[in-house]
Amino acid sequence: MGNQIFIQKDSFTKDPSTVKFTFLEDGKDQSGFIVLYNFKYYAYRNKCQHLSVELDWDNNEFFEEEEKFIVCATHGAIYEPSTGKCLMGPCAGEKLEVLNLKILEDKLIVTI
Ligand code: FES
Repeated sequence: MGNQIFIQKDSFTKDPSTVKFTFLEDGKDQSGFIVLYNFKYYAYRNKCQHLSVELDWDNNEFFEEEEKFIVCATHGAIYEPSTGKCLMGPCAGEKLEVLNLKILEDKLIVTI
């Protein structure tokens, strides 16, 4: 049975915003995040497609200044929040790993 992470919808302070979480996989701590963007939720593994590093430049800071794109802190790859597609940077054309997300009335459930 998969690992489940529960996140309350009211954890999102605004649109757009993100909520980061960790989970255990093969005995190791892993990181993921949910994006609220244009009234919709998306869940991704927190791992750049260029090198195997977390995307956020400060804890739970995923968006660039204009808050239109997710940016990787390490080399600046730009990802589209609604698809996870890398639009610009060293991994252009690749996609963030989408995590299974269930949306309920008051909470979100990520199943790994
Ligand atoms: S590690 Fe993300 S762009 Fe290089």
